[in-house]
Order: sequence, then structure tokens, then C-alpha cells
Amino acid sequence: MATTDLLTLSRAARLAGVTRGVLQKKVRDGDLRSFEGKVRVADLVEAFPGTAIEDNAELARVSQIKERAFARRVYERALPDKEVLAARVGALGRDLAVANARADRLQSLLSELGQRLEGHSLGAWLRHQLEIGMAASDDEQELLAQEGVMRVMAPHVKVTPGGQEFFVEGADTVLEAALHAGIAMAYGCSGGNCGECKARVVAGTLRQVRHHDYRLTEAERQNGWALMCSHTALTDLVIEAQVARFANEIPEQSITAHVRKMENLSDEVMLLELLTPRSNRLRFLAGQGAQVTLGGASATWPIASCPCEERRLHFHVRRMPGNVISDYVFGRLRIGEAVPVAGPVGDFVLREDSARPLVFIAWGWQGFAPVKSVIEHALAQESAESIDLYWIGAQGSDHYHPRLCRSWAEAIDNFRYTPLIAGAGLHGEVVRAVRSTLGEILPEIETPAERDFYVAGDSAQIDATRAALAEHGVPAERLATWTAD
Ligand code: FES
Repeated sequence: MATTDLLTLSRAARLAGVTRGVLQKKVRDGDLRSFEGKVRVADLVEAFPGTAIEDNAELARVSQIKERAFARRVYERALPDKEVLAARVGALGRDLAVANARADRLQSLLSELGQRLEGHSLGAWLRHQLEIGMAASDDEQELLAQEGVMRVMAPHVKVTPGGQEFFVEGADTVLEAALHAGIAMAYGCSGGNCGECKARVVAGTLRQVRHHDYRLTEAERQNGWALMCSHTALTDLVIEAQVARFANEIPEQSITAHVRKMENLSDEVMLLELLTPRSNRLRFLAGQGAQVTLGGASATWPIASCPCEERRLHFHVRRMPGNVISDYVFGRLRIGEAVPVAGPVGDFVLREDSARPLVFIAWGWQGFAPVKSVIEHALAQESAESIDLYWIGAQGSDHYHPRLCRSWAEAIDNFRYTPLIAGAGLHGEVVRAVRSTLGEILPEIETPAERDFYVAGDSAQIDATRAALAEHGVPAERLATWTAD
């Protein structure tokens, strides 16, 4: 089988216009063959007939997400600058010339072999196999052409030993691309000074696009080490790099961020956006929180944004008259003010080793921010087979971000959003309110015991949810929680 006929799952998913999770399900169900994590072009065309040509599913998917959903910034940067584009085309051209020379050599070898086997049954078999092998359908050719364009526009990176995959859009550095894809690659300054983003290139070619002061040793350079914060990918890459997967792998940090934006999401909830310094960002995993100090008071809040938002940290602050920090945010905080931030805290993070469908349950207004961060990370990873979000408020005003949830449901395949009202009991008769709401939800969820649950709320809501899920056969290890009090 020609290696050019094999696509990584990530690239195949993009070409077919589906998530990696959907493709992985097809592989698991036996509807699509995979060869060491790759799929054949012909099999992809058969599994998703017509998608590559008739409606250019990849472009449709990108423009749909761009118009409606959260990832606008990710896709706005899709075009590489002229120099990077020219270098990528040059690298692809060299690959093509080598591949053509090899194909010519192989072709002449095969025809000589055919002549020598003339009259022999093996000769007839060889001719027949060659005819089959060389005949690519129009759909396959179209898909291969698109794949070539994608290799120029967005080279693919595979990380060892963790197995993470992502694409380098535009002229992003490899580090930026990893962070946009929600992959917590190790880094420090992100400005070429500390050397912590050092990784070894096992296959492929880099190009330096940012200045760096940090000096690698000659031996490191010879062995393929390079700084990921100052290089982009010219070709598809395989790199050896450190990636944090668990909360305890991220160091504690103290930084000073600045207020960049304050925006009312509703009458009661404000979006507070902080910008971290370029050379001192906060490393965290989606779903973690941070301690924020404002007006002389400190509070630990969930970070509502995901690490793919780069230097922006979002917090959802509730108006609570009499609460010092809330009064300060709603009454005195100004754009540009310096804000000490320490963290990250918490272990409400996505289980990246799991391919199970995901169910998110956000209780009340305070359950949504951590859930939002993990959902955005899961969407950036494209690995979830399906996502269900239940946002259960005591009253309708608790659903303070309904447009965002609806846009996810509209733009993303296999994403379902269900807002529910549990009534005042959610803060009084908690156990009864939680049990009765889950009594409605759980029968709707097929095979709850085979899903991963992410639940955020106050401690009473979490305890009641844990008990109800256990009664429905959900093992304790399938449940991750964020407790808001
Ligand atoms: S992150 Fe500091 S040199 Fe790359």
C-alpha cells in the first residue's frame, strides 16, 4: 500500500468534515479499517461517500464554526504569511519530486518484473493487482488533492510519547498551535528565553519565525532539538515533547494580569476578562481555577475560558451585594487594573485517555463556568464521540449564557444542549430537587454507565448527583466534579 494513500485520523476527519471522535467510533465499530492509527483514502471515501467533492465538508464545517461558534479566533488565523506559505510549498514540492522519482523507479522495476514473468500465472496476477492498485476513483483523487492543500495550509503534528495530534494553522509557532488545540505542551516564557518548550523533532522540517535568545547546545541541535515557541512547521511533524495531562503536572504560578474587558452576560453575571503578560502566561488545564485578588479580597474562581484562548483568562462573576469582591468588580474595577492571579487549582479536567461519550451537568449559575472550559477543550480536541450538556438552574435567569450553548448545539455534530429549571428547591430541598431532575434526565441517556460525567455545582448538589448516578450504575471513577463552595 502506498504511504500517500494513508491519512492520519485527524486529517481524515477534517477531510470528511467530522470530528476525530466520530471517525474513531467508525473504526471501533468496524465500519472503517485503520492501519496503525491511519486510514486509507479509498476506505474514507467509502465510509463518507461524496463528502469531499459535493459539498466540501471541511470548508463548510470551518465556515459554520467560524460564523456561529466559539472558535472564531482559531480560524481567523488560518492563512500562513507569504514566506511560510512559500517555504511550505517548496518543502511539499521537494517531497513530491522525491516521491515521483521513487514511483518512476518502482514502475520500471515492476514492468521489468512483469516482462520476466510473461506467460507465468504470477505475471497475470501481478498485472491485475497493478490495475487495481493504480486505479484511483475521482473521489479518491479529489480527496488526495485536498489533502495536499491541507498539508500546505495546516501541517499535522504528532507528539510522542503521548500520541496527541494537532494542526499548525497559519504561521503559528508549534507551541501556539498546540495550545490552541488544547494540548498542554510544556513551556515557560513563550518568548524564546527559558528553553522549557524544547522538543526533539523526530520527523519533518521546522522554520524559525520568532527570535530567541535561548541557546541550544551544538549536541542538542544535531539531535533535532528546537524551541517550539519560535518555530513553525513547514511539513507534517513528529516531535518528542512533554505534555501535561494531569492537574498535578502543572506547576503553581503567581502572575499579574490586567483587566482587558468587563461585559455583562446578564443582569446578574459579568464576564471579567484578564490578559496575562506575553512572557508570563498562566499554565493551566481546562476546568481548573485560579485565586484572584481584587479590592483587597481574594477568591478562588473557575477559569471559564480554555487554555486555547491563549493569554485571555475569563471569569464569570455574580452580582452579590455585600460580598466584598463582587461589590468591587461591579462598582469600582476599571479596565487596565492590575490583578494578582495564583494557580492553577482543582482537578476537574478532561480525561484524555477516554473515548467515552461525555455528559456535562452544570447546577445553577455557578456550575457553568468550569463546565464551559472543559467543553471548549473537548471541542478543540475533537475526540469526544458525543457531548450532552444539561444546565439546570433554580430559575431561568441562572442560564446566563444561553446563546453560546445554543450555538454549540447548532454548529457541532453530536452536541446536545438541554436547559432545565429545578425550582427554588435547588437551594433548599437540594436532594429532592436533584433527584427529581436527574430522574428526568438519566432515562434519556443511553447506557449512562458507559459515559464520563462532569458535574459542577455546590457541595450539596454534587453529593446528591453522585448518589443518584451511583444508583444508575455509573462507577465513581467516571465522575469528575467541581465544587463551588
Ligand atoms: S517557552 Fe521559553 S523558550 Fe520557549
